[in-house]
Amino acid sequence: MSVSRRDFIHKSIAAGSLFPLFSMDYKKNRIDLNAKYRDEKYWNDVANMYHQNINFINLESGYFSPSPESVKNYWVDFVNEINESPSYYMRTRQTEMREQVRNKLANYAGIQSDELVLTRNTTESMNIIIQGIKLDKGDEILRTNLEYPNIIQALDMRERRFGTKVRIVDVPIHPKNQQEIVDKVISAVNKKTKVILISHMVFLNGQVFPVKEVCAKARELGLETIVDGAHSFSHVDMDISEIGCDYYASSLHKWLGAPLGNGLLYVKKGNVNRLWPLYGDTAYEDDNIMKLEHLGTRPCSDQNGIIPAIDFNLEIGKKEKSKRLKFLQMRWASELKENKNIILNTPLEEGQSYGIANVGVKNLPPSKLADKLFDDHNIFTVPIDDDRGIRGVRVSPNLYSTVEDIDKFIEAMLKIAA
Ligand SMILES: Cc1ncc(COP(=O)(O)O)c(C=O)c1O
Repeated sequence: MSVSRRDFIHKSIAAGSLFPLFSMDYKKNRIDLNAKYRDEKYWNDVANMYHQNINFINLESGYFSPSPESVKNYWVDFVNEINESPSYYMRTRQTEMREQVRNKLANYAGIQSDELVLTRNTTESMNIIIQGIKLDKGDEILRTNLEYPNIIQALDMRERRFGTKVRIVDVPIHPKNQQEIVDKVISAVNKKTKVILISHMVFLNGQVFPVKEVCAKARELGLETIVDGAHSFSHVDMDISEIGCDYYASSLHKWLGAPLGNGLLYVKKGNVNRLWPLYGDTAYEDDNIMKLEHLGTRPCSDQNGIIPAIDFNLEIGKKEKSKRLKFLQMRWASELKENKNIILNTPLEEGQSYGIANVGVKNLPPSKLADKLFDDHNIFTVPIDDDRGIRGVRVSPNLYSTVEDIDKFIEAMLKIAA
C-alpha cells in the first residue's frame, strides 16, 4: 500500500518526530551566562556545560574543541531527524536551514552573508582560494615560514600545477614587537609578489601575527591578502571585516566549538570573480559567491550545529571568552616562565597570544615531556618538535578548563623541570 506525502506528514507529526522546534528548548535550564560578575564559580558552571573524559585533563583543544552539551544535543537531534526523514529533509528544509546558519554566522563574524562560504574546514577553505585565485604568469605568492603543513602543500601543488612561485619570509617567534613582523613581511615583497598569505595565529605556539597591519600595508601596495584564521575565529575578539584582508579561512570545530567538519571561507565583496571554484560550477554568475559552495550532498546536521554553538559563544560574549582564554594561559605561563629549566616558545604580551602557548623543558625532547605529563600526571598535550626553534608541548585549554586543571599542570611542569 502506498503512503501519500500528506499521510506521511500527518503520521510523522502524530508521532511527534517531524522537525520539532529544537531551537525552542536547547537553551533551557542554562546558567546565567550573562552574569556581570564572572568569578570562578561562574566559569566552573561554564565548564560543567561540557561532558569530558574524567580520566585525564585535556589541554589540547587546539586540534578541535568539544561542543558543550547544548550544542551536541541540538546537533544529535538533527542527526536523528534527518536519518528519520532523509530525502524529505533535504528536499524541503535543507536550504532554509543552511541560510539560517549562513546569516547567523555572518552576523557573528561581522561580515555580510554574501561574503561567506560554508566549508568543512580551513584546509578546504584555503584550497578554494589557493587553487582558485586568478594569477598571471610570473606572479608570485609570499608566505611566512610558520604556515600550517596542509597549506604549504596546497601552495606546493599550485606551484607544480600552474607554475606559481611561492616565496617564504622568515619571521621571529620572539619579535621585539608586532611592528617587526610587519616590517619583515612587507620588506620581503618584490615586484612579482601579488599575494601575501599569513596565519593569524601560528599553529605551533599560538603566536598572533599582526594581520590587520600587514593587510593595510599590502593594500597600499596593491596586493591581495589571504589570512589563515584556523585558530583565531571565536578566540581573538575581532570581526573578520576588521582585519581588512581579501580572504580569510577558519575551522568552526576549533574555537567556536561547533560540530566536527565545519569551516568558513570569507571572500571580501568584489573579490568573488577573482576565484575559480574548486568544485566545477558553471550555473552561477562569476561574481556569485555560491559558485564556491558547490559541494554536493553534505552533513547538514553538523552544519546546523553551528547555530547553538554561536548562541553559546554569544551568551558568554566574544570579549569575555577571549579574556578568559588569555587568563588561563597567563595563569600557568607566568608561574613557569622564570624557571631556569623551562623554555617558553610563545610571546606573552597582550595581543601577541591568547589561549595557546608552547612550553618546553631544557634537555627533554617534547615527546618525552608529553609522555611524562600524560603517564605521570594524566595531562594531555601535544608535543611539537619543530626545527624552526619551537620545541615543547602546545598547551591549549578552553572554556571547559578550570583553574584546578591549570594548577595541576603548573605543579606537574615544576616537578618535571626540577
Ligand atoms: C594554522 C592552521 N591552518 C590550517 C589548519 C587546518 O585545519 P583543519 O584540519 O580543520 O582543516 C590548522 C589545523 O590545526 C591550523 O592550525
